[in-house]
Amino acid sequence: MIVLPDEREPVAQLLGFLEYGERLAQDCAAAQAALVADPGHRRFLLGQARQESMHATVFRGVIAWLAPRRLSATPLLPPLERYRALVEDAITRRDLHETLMAEQLILEGLGEAILNRIEAGLVKRGAPFGRLRRILLHQEEAHHGFGRRLLDRARAEGALQPDRLRGRAEEYLGLTQDMVLTLASLFSTIDEDASAWASDVRLYVPEWCVG
Ligand SMILES: [Fe+2]
Ligand SMILES: [Fe+2]
Repeated sequence: MIVLPDEREPVAQLLGFLEYGERLAQDCAAAQAALVADPGHRRFLLGQARQESMHATVFRGVIAWLAPRRLSATPLLPPLERYRALVEDAITRRDLHETLMAEQLILEGLGEAILNRIEAGLVKRGAPFGRLRRILLHQEEAHHGFGRRLLDRARAEGALQPDRLRGRAEEYLGLTQDMVLTLASLFSTIDEDASAWASDVRLYVPEWCVG
């Protein structure tokens, strides 16, 4: 992989962000498995938790391969830590719908938008783990689709309060907006089109959710 010396740090920061996101997704899916009644849903979520753990290991591997000597504190992590606190609060309240919206819909939507946009750049640079990245993208699509189906069904059955979730969505989306801005500057440092994907993020969130 050809990574220019001045690209190493922004690329490693980006991957550090993705790794943290995978750990959050892993913990969230494991906790969600205890909140669902359907055994099939529980199996899916436990499988998701295992896959997210594998994803985190992949990103850790690429970071180690890049081995930037000194990684300055990434500005991306504080909004992601705040995001984790909100998700953990929803788990404590056993609010499955809010966790599905925050994790599978919004956060995985953001992750999918990032991965899809940087994939071309990674291919161009001959990055390692090409096959793994394709498997990973495929799995993320499945996680996102699962959350979307469960919420759509709950909505059709009248088991979900869209107004309340919309209010919560604003807080989560506000945090992703902070992340998007920082990511955009990282993307321009490594010469990837930042504006193109920044607008993608909201496309992953259903309309009823953003109002
Ligand atoms: Fe993942
Ligand atoms: Fe995922």
